[in-house]
Amino acid sequence: MKHIVILSGSPRKNGNTNLLCRQFQQGAEEAGHSVRFIPLAEKRIGFCRACDVCMRNGGACIQKDDMENILCAFQQADVVVLATPVYFYGVSAQMKACIDRTYPIWQHLGRKEVYYIVSAGLGEDIIARSLGDLDGFVEHFEQYEIKGRLYASNVMEAGAVRTLPVMEAAYQAGLHV
Ligand SMILES: Cc1cc2nc3c(=O)[nH]c(=O)nc-3n(C[C@H](O)[C@H](O)[C@H](O)COP(=O)(O)O)c2cc1C
Repeated sequence: MKHIVILSGSPRKNGNTNLLCRQFQQGAEEAGHSVRFIPLAEKRIGFCRACDVCMRNGGACIQKDDMENILCAFQQADVVVLATPVYFYGVSAQMKACIDRTYPIWQHLGRKEVYYIVSAGLGEDIIARSLGDLDGFVEHFEQYEIKGRLYASNVMEAGAVRTLPVMEAAYQAGLHV
């Protein structure tokens, strides 16, 4: 059994990113894995203040918010799913804030299997241009393998992904994680 954490940066509960997350989760749970879905938009996550206190005190952030718990879940996970809509050729602010707040443990991000789930109103070429923040984060892991990239392109409206083959692909990715 693997421990899976899904970090979703979409604020739309029934948006495309979260629908794909649910598909992935369903597949993974059916396969017997433990899955924790974390909707970042519903969490209290302050911005990194670059005070560097965490660099001097062994990795504890001075901000006491939901990030403490999220870092714990992240460190225990074998598999991390990074899910985000594309906003202005990048990840959502919710996802970026979360990535920045991993700074206290950036030298101990561990060994992870990684999946991307990304939704965009425009085409897949736009998604390819928008992944710098995710790639830059994952490249700091001590060891990683990007095992899947699930892209919902040309989906502007929430829920538009429902009719696309990537829904089944997300379920299958979870099932065979
Ligand atoms: C602030 C904002 C910026 C966006 N910027 C882009 C963009 O640069 N490229 C793009 O293809 N779609 C862009 N979109 C469209 C979203 O990526 C699209 O609606 C996506 O399906 C949202 O995912 P969600 O349903 O999971 O929230 C943007 C949407 C918003 C709200």
